[in-house]
Amino acid sequence: MRSRIAVLASGGGSNLQAILEHFDRLGAHRGGDVVLVASDRADAGALERARRRDIADVVLRTKQQPDGPPLEQLLDEHAVDLIVLAGYLRLVPSTIVAKYEGRIINIHPALLPAFGGPGMYGSRVHRAVLDAGVRVTGVTAHFVDDVYDRGRIIAQWPVPVFAADDAGTLAARVLRVEHLVYPRVADAVAAGRLTLENCVTSSSPSLVDTRPSFTLLPHEESRLAENIEIALGC
Ligand code: GRF
Repeated sequence: MRSRIAVLASGGGSNLQAILEHFDRLGAHRGGDVVLVASDRADAGALERARRRDIADVVLRTKQQPDGPPLEQLLDEHAVDLIVLAGYLRLVPSTIVAKYEGRIINIHPALLPAFGGPGMYGSRVHRAVLDAGVRVTGVTAHFVDDVYDRGRIIAQWPVPVFAADDAGTLAARVLRVEHLVYPRVADAVAAGRLTLENCVTSSSPSLVDTRPSFTLLPHEESRLAENIEIALGC
């Protein structure tokens, strides 16, 4: 049985779009169906993307929109099994986090636990990466608990930072990778291939093996040394 997925988004919803398109490609093999898109913002592009696909789109109850339904009620009404946060800027209430343990995932545009936590969203993340002078950033998909950006990591993928980058060019490079990683993580969790329990140990069959993006295999050591020398100009 496929999972019933709710996507929560506050912004444009390009990750939502990437998930929908990936599920289209998987066809009958997909692990879930997006049955609901909900937002705290009436003008979120994600809602428009849902409407175009005849997926239920809902503006959640907030101080500004007191008439909207509360999240928990909505999840029950749509019999949601899995919550996918895709650029959702609010903390998910702890009652929902407890009820959906291991069934809420998020994508963060940096390599957690670095550059995460309260206030670290959107271009702020990429500016902090540039200010810190790191040469590698990336994406992190993780399970959600009741602290921002702290839940168990499911998958990470590195993205290089170039000297000429500004927050915009870096965000675009990272987003491209998000669109590749997140739909695959969402599908694996929806299908039950990846769970909070089995993503703990390094010996478990891992969905995202970052080795191909590095040269760390024993027989590649000389290549690695050579590449380091080239990078250092020695
Ligand atoms: C992404 O960068 C994601 O990592 C972060 O919020 C952004 C959402 O972008 N959590 P979009 O709305 O999916 O285009």
